[in-house]
This record gives sequence, C-alpha cells and structure tokens, in this order.
Amino acid sequence: MAMPIAVLVSGGGSNLQSIIDRIEAGALDAEIKVVVSNREDAYGLTRARNHNIPTRVLLHTDFDSRESFDEELVRVLRESGVNGAGAVVMAGFMRIVTPVFLEPFRGRVINIHPALLPSFPGVHGQDDAAEYGVKISGCTVHFVDEQMDHGPVIVQAAVPCQPGEDGDELGARILKLEHRIYPQALQWLAEGRLETRGRIVHLKPGERKLADASASDMGVETQALVWPPLEEGF
Ligand code: GRF
Repeated sequence: MAMPIAVLVSGGGSNLQSIIDRIEAGALDAEIKVVVSNREDAYGLTRARNHNIPTRVLLHTDFDSRESFDEELVRVLRESGVNGAGAVVMAGFMRIVTPVFLEPFRGRVINIHPALLPSFPGVHGQDDAAEYGVKISGCTVHFVDEQMDHGPVIVQAAVPCQPGEDGDELGARILKLEHRIYPQALQWLAEGRLETRGRIVHLKPGERKLADASASDMGVETQALVWPPLEEGF
C-alpha cells in the first residue's frame, strides 16, 4: 500500500511539485491525502488542485495559540487518512510546531532546509550562507523535533558556492537538489529503511541501483555531492 502523506506548505510549493512528479512517475510509493496551507494565497494549493489532491487552508490568525492551531492540524490530518503509519511532509511550511502536533506523528514528520545543518538554520539559510562566504552549502532533509531545523538528519546534498553569488542564485541551485533528495528521503521512509538511534539515522540496504549522480545528471552547472546517494528513479 502506498504510504499516506500530508504535505504542509506556505508558499510556492516547488518541493510539493517534485513529490507529485515522482509519485506520478512511479518512483515514489506514496499517496498525498491532503495538502494543508496556513496561507490562502500559497501557490502550492494551486499545484495540488491541478492534480486533484484535496487541499485545506488553516489560517493561523484564526487560532489564539500555537497549540490550538496544532490540535486542529492533527484533526485535519487524521480526518484525511494520515496516521502514524504515514508521514507529514513540511515543504516550505513557515510555522514552528509544538508537541501537540509532533507527539501523534513522532518520527514521521520530515522537513527540508536549504542549508547544510547545523549551519545556517532559520528562514534565510541560503542568504546567510552566501553572505558568510562559505565555499560549500546545500540542503538537508531531517526528521522534525521540537527545535527549529534540528532533528536527526536523513540526507544532505552539497554544492560549491560560486564567488560573488548572492543568496537567490545559490538558493536556486540548491532548490534543484532539494527536488531530488526530498522525494528520495520519502521513498526510504515508505520502504521502512530509515532507522533512527538517538540523533543518527541509519539507511538500511535496499534493492534499487544507485542513480547516476554525475554533475550533468544533477542539472546544475557544477559538481554536487549527495549522501547517502540517490537511487534509480530520483
Ligand atoms: C525551500 O527552499 C525549502 O528548503 C524551505 O522553503 C523553501 C520552499 O520552497 N524550507 P517551495 O515552496 O517548495 O518552492
């Protein structure tokens, strides 16, 4: 059975699109039961509707606390058929979540961050990395815990930073890799291959061959390192 997932968005939803595309291509064995946004104007909602995926809008301004928002979120996800065996995928969801939300989905909530954590957490990861002048940055898929951009790391992709590049340019190249590692991480979860001990996530061996992770295949004009490596279909 395909893994039931909910995708939480606040904005453009390009990561949501990459997940939809991998599902439709038959590489990712998941079914998006609902896309939830805390903003009515999130383009991610349009992307979902274009693929006949149910959507819900939960305006955080309608709630008097983070906890009451999270309670309603849990209710909506359960009602949509996402439970502890599924996954909740944060894709540009600009909200800090509380234990009220995390407890029912413990170990099944995943986020993507556009920097190599623990460097440059927060909402401007790409800009912060470019301004700091690091020579390598990238993106991180991780399990979510109570702290922002903090839980156990599942997969990271690294790209060289070009001299003079600003956060937007760097971010655009990082985003292309986000679109590959996020669906891959979800597929590992769907296959039951992720085992977390403390902070360390172990990837159990699988049947799929590795993808050709050459620079040209990455679609970026530079070398990239993805670890653990992408498998066929991603
Ligand atoms: C991505 O850079 C993601 O890493 C961050 O928010 C951005 C969302 O982009 N968490 P999109 O809405 O998926 O296009």
